[in-house]
Amino acid sequence: MKALIICGSRERGFTSEMCLSFSKGLAVHGISSEIVYPLEMNIGHCNGCGDCSADGRCSISDDMERIYEAFGKSGLLVLASPIHFSGPSSVIKTVVDRFQPVWFRKRGHPAFAAALLSGGSPAPRFNNTTSIFKALSATAGMEWFGALEISGTDDKEIQDIAEPSFQYGKEIGLLLVKDQK
Ligand SMILES: Cc1cc2nc3c(=O)[nH]c(=O)nc-3n(C[C@H](O)[C@H](O)[C@H](O)COP(=O)(O)O)c2cc1C
Repeated sequence: MKALIICGSRERGFTSEMCLSFSKGLAVHGISSEIVYPLEMNIGHCNGCGDCSADGRCSISDDMERIYEAFGKSGLLVLASPIHFSGPSSVIKTVVDRFQPVWFRKRGHPAFAAALLSGGSPAPRFNNTTSIFKALSATAGMEWFGALEISGTDDKEIQDIAEPSFQYGKEIGLLLVKDQK
């Protein structure tokens, strides 16, 4: 069992700390993770050409191919994002849109999906982002496990969010292990 964690933010920020600590929680249950940073990759926008409707393949050739490959080999997909203007970061939304081929090819996907979200204010609007991620989850036929939402990062240190993220990783890891039995 492997998890693909897509971090829609910079390395060494709050969201990436959530990803790293979450992966350590999964590792307690023997689940390995691959964390990818689309910000550091060459990933173009979905242009709505519709080519994927023919064979479930995207006609754009770029680093998204690495993500498609990992997606096909993983049991859990984790989408991680900071809240930007009450929604997901443009980085993760670009990746979500590039999953349009799964609308036409409903095989070769993780069984489960979950999210890790951070927001600076005391009450960020997480719902807009979770509904987008849930839409992808439902489109691909993944079971939605839920989201860890950490608010108030404007008044927090990065290390403050390590423990809850680790615990959430352990919690999800346990669910995955139970599912395999
Ligand atoms: C462009 C931009 C827009 C933001 N919009 C919001 C927002 O609408 N609500 C909120 O609570 N925080 C907002 N924030 C704060 C981030 O969500 C918060 O600082 C986050 O934890 C940063 O994560 P990172 O360290 O991974 O970048 C915004 C930050 C940026 C850069």
